[in-house]
Amino acid sequence: MEIPVQEINEIIEEEASGDGSLISALESIQKRFRYLPPEALILVSERLNVPLAQTYAVATFYNAFSLEPKGEHIIQVCMGTACHVRGSPQILDRLETELGIEAGATTEDGLFTLETVNCLGACALGPVVVIDGEYHGQLTAHKADRLLKKIQKEVGVKNESITDQN
Ligand code: FES
Repeated sequence: MEIPVQEINEIIEEEASGDGSLISALESIQKRFRYLPPEALILVSERLNVPLAQTYAVATFYNAFSLEPKGEHIIQVCMGTACHVRGSPQILDRLETELGIEAGATTEDGLFTLETVNCLGACALGPVVVIDGEYHGQLTAHKADRLLKKIQKEVGVKNESITDQN
């Protein structure tokens, strides 16, 4: 994928004219591209006068930032203790099978990224899966599968296994 340097520069200029904070510039770039391209880190460092090592340190410290391209839809399966004992491994297994990827990967069509996280702070609702920031609690592998198929249908994924199972 070609990196639109001009667009990155515009984002950085906009940030620099505001509070000019490193985090805020990285957030805007992450939001636009769904990841932080290496070129963007260099441009941000130069424009904001921040050492590149510091920019990388910030970019790798916060979970909200990614140095790898992410899918349009982010699915996070909680593997914290409370969710784990209530069945999150089975949910993860099912989602991995349905998406054809392992946790930490993005589908080839760029639509879905599957991640695991450690405790989302909603243990009472466990097992919890967060899809694009929306919490889904007390899931089972079957319910998670139905949820995924619903989203796949909405985004037009062609999948022969997608059927209405209401
Ligand atoms: S362990 Fe899953 S929300 Fe806390």
